[in-house]
Amino acid sequence: MKRTNTCNELTAANVGENVTLIGWVNSVRDHGGILFVDLRDREGITQVVFNPEIKDVYETAQKLKDESVIQVFGKVAARDEGTKNSNLKTGDIEVVAENMIVHNICDVLPFPLEDERADKVNEDLRLQYRYLDLRRPRNLNLLKTRHVAAKAIRDYLNSENFIEVETPILFKSTPEGAREFLVPSRINPGSFYALNQSPQQYKQMLMVSGIERYFQMAKCFRDEDLRADRQPEFTQVDIELSFVEREDMYALIENMLKKVWKDVLNIDIPTPFQRMHYEEAMNRYGVDKPDTRFDIELNDLTDVFKDSQFKVFASIVQSGGVIKAINAKGLADITQGELKNLEDIAKTLGAKGLAFIKAENGAWKSPILKFLSEEEQNALRQKLNIEDGDIVFFAASQWEQACAILGRIRLECGKLLQNRGKLVIPADKFNFLWVIEFPLMLWDEEQGRYVSAHHPFTAPVEEDMQFLDTDPLKVRGQHYDIVLNGTELGGGSIRIHQPEVQEKVFKDVLKIPADVVESRFGYMLKAFKFGAPPHGGIALGFDRLVTILTGRSSIRDIIAFPKTQKGQDLMAQSPSPVTEKQLKDLHIKLDIIED
Ligand code: AMO
Ligand code: AMP
Repeated sequence: MKRTNTCNELTAANVGENVTLIGWVNSVRDHGGILFVDLRDREGITQVVFNPEIKDVYETAQKLKDESVIQVFGKVAARDEGTKNSNLKTGDIEVVAENMIVHNICDVLPFPLEDERADKVNEDLRLQYRYLDLRRPRNLNLLKTRHVAAKAIRDYLNSENFIEVETPILFKSTPEGAREFLVPSRINPGSFYALNQSPQQYKQMLMVSGIERYFQMAKCFRDEDLRADRQPEFTQVDIELSFVEREDMYALIENMLKKVWKDVLNIDIPTPFQRMHYEEAMNRYGVDKPDTRFDIELNDLTDVFKDSQFKVFASIVQSGGVIKAINAKGLADITQGELKNLEDIAKTLGAKGLAFIKAENGAWKSPILKFLSEEEQNALRQKLNIEDGDIVFFAASQWEQACAILGRIRLECGKLLQNRGKLVIPADKFNFLWVIEFPLMLWDEEQGRYVSAHHPFTAPVEEDMQFLDTDPLKVRGQHYDIVLNGTELGGGSIRIHQPEVQEKVFKDVLKIPADVVESRFGYMLKAFKFGAPPHGGIALGFDRLVTILTGRSSIRDIIAFPKTQKGQDLMAQSPSPVTEKQLKDLHIKLDIIED
């Protein structure tokens, strides 16, 4: 079905040419005696004119419904001066129809497709008819941008001598990561695959194979609770290299992102990116993925309160905790409802309360004011630069929890101040940041043992190796996260490549029983004994990257067929029940407890 041109091509230079266009009817305007159709394809819109002189074509056009698919044969004509449309690339011309084929008539649409109206339609309905929602040029453009970003990444990694290798999606269960999707094996009764959470183990094996530089646009699967930045299946830009150190990784990823931003947005992002130690990120921003586009920062007031009359705070300091505070400048006009909401958020993070001091009309108002000595008040005023119109929030707890609580409150205050026009968090500012020097291990109170902060394959920082036996919390990992505007874009590490170190981490530090280590990781430990090169890598969340590139707030917008918050595909209607026969073949009996 030859078209001579796309709907975004014809200009005054084409006047007089015979052309064939094909596309969707964007709109029909009947001006009584003359009929205009805006014809749309992937590239743009061209106005087509139907004159009553060609009776049968004109009458067919009169019956056209929006979104029907037609092919038009006609001649390019210049528009009169007053009827030109400077918003369209093709706005200087129109195509005068001589003939037409109607390929498909569109039914009554379930919702209107113009952006202003479609944006107000319930997302579930739009997901049910995702193919229609995607037809909106703005949404189709998001997929185009995704394509351009993927191409920039492939071009870059290709130019850096990377080889794209596909690794299995049917992997085995590795319960120490995120929750997995299990796949029953019909020919191995009682055994299951797990969909891979990431190609981590395979890509490390490829290093042992001697691939040296691997990448993959890898589909990954995690059965986690879903949020705006999480899907059960998503794509990683997965990278692994042999013979690298951390500095090499930083430069590689910085240059890759530089190319992506240039190719997609025509923006030159400055490199190298800022680097921040995990501890500094927590102390200043209360989170390991700080949004550094706005200034509110955490302050440490532990010293001020260590001998305080305010027993709540003093006792927390005495038990090894800390007192942290932020000054949300200009937010003293916070409403009761907003304040209550902040308190609730703090409580979901484990806070006992959210003490505050409001400075208004020359006086301080606070539920804890009566407990604070003159000296303490002066120290606060000075340390936090409290001025009229400010509100200060406090968190008293163990270090990590106090940081996390105020980290969240900081973000909420940022939103409240932005809504009031008192703070600008520029959407077109890209604050890239490496967060480095994470602890290798965290203490898991519930399990009563150490767990890997990232994953168990991350190498310890060389000079901290000595503490691996005696004080694992003191060991820093060679782990790095790439953060952009408060989103964790990706993370990776230099890996352990010595079998004895890997075995020590599994058995002595993580306390995984020897037989479990053997059954889960035995093959890796063995592989590391056959000439394993020093290696390291990273994975970037490609969907998150494109979400930020396109300025969207939900990852669902830039995925062709996303799942809902409940993990459902409303269009194809999955997940769905299967037949008894299918279950029987898979050796599965259901045991569903009905409500
Ligand atoms: P990690 O688990 O940190 O590391 O994942 C890397 C990046 O993948 C993205 N991501 C997600 N995106 C959308 N939906 C999800 N459910 C989701 N989960 C993760 C994030 C994250 O930063 N194998 C290691 C990497 C390595 O060490 O090389 C890994 O998977 O942007
Ligand atoms: P209380 O004396 O327990 O009623 O607490 C007085 C004020 O301090 C209240 O506003 C509480 O919300 C707040 N508060 C109590 N515990 C903490 C804590 N650990 N961190 C921050 N604020 C707290």
